[in-house]
Amino acid sequence: MVGIDNYFNQLWDLFCRMNPQAEGIHRLLAERGEVIVNDHIAFRTFDDPRVDIEFLARPFLKSGYFPQGEYEFPNKHLFARHFEHSDPQRPKIFISQLKLREMSEKLQEQATEFIDQISPETYERDDFCAMGRPWDLDYATYEQLVQESEYAGWLSAFGFCANHFTVLVNNLRTIDGLEELNELLKSNGFQLNSSNGEIKGSPEEYLEQSSTLAAEIDVPFSDGSHHIPSCYYEFARRYELPDGEMFSGFVAQSADKIFESTDRRET
Ligand code: NI
Repeated sequence: MVGIDNYFNQLWDLFCRMNPQAEGIHRLLAERGEVIVNDHIAFRTFDDPRVDIEFLARPFLKSGYFPQGEYEFPNKHLFARHFEHSDPQRPKIFISQLKLREMSEKLQEQATEFIDQISPETYERDDFCAMGRPWDLDYATYEQLVQESEYAGWLSAFGFCANHFTVLVNNLRTIDGLEELNELLKSNGFQLNSSNGEIKGSPEEYLEQSSTLAAEIDVPFSDGSHHIPSCYYEFARRYELPDGEMFSGFVAQSADKIFESTDRRET
């Protein structure tokens, strides 16, 4: 078994290749002397039992993670779970899955066809979520999938990788809260997801989040490269619960809007 820290490093390297903003933001914060704590890492998948949440969670469970919250996103046909480690310094793991049975027959067949292409050896890999796309895809199929579900389109194009990493804003010493961080990011040229306002959630919900818009990168399809939205960076500020414990869960209504950070945009 690859050590979990190695796995996180692999995931981060792949994330930086897919999201050129990430290193820029990291550098911007590091130059101010900030030490970045990663609140959570998020993954996306289909609910086919061969690649579902349970399957993706295996290496994390083997490394001491345990399942915590469960979330429903009815509008997007998603279900998600988050996992925590007894060492609170470890990032939480957030995995969502598309409920295929709620999608068109065509999409279901397409997803099955993708998953059928994954080799038996690949399923054995402990670094399954750091391998990218394990199936062939042409651009017309991608376009068709995004029409029905932006999530399905993104997943078909990028496969298994970290969809986002998340800066824990509580840990920043030179920046007081999300609003200040958002201003800093924007003044440095980073675009934020403003679907339903830049800040999702509130202190009353014990969690505030914002995120960049996914960077657009050239993605190779079987019939040529195309420029499409890839990964994004997220920022989370957590608040203490009345009992003094820090809230460690997620707020479905906020996450619902954050998913849209990878939607295609009119340019
Ligand atoms: Ni997130």
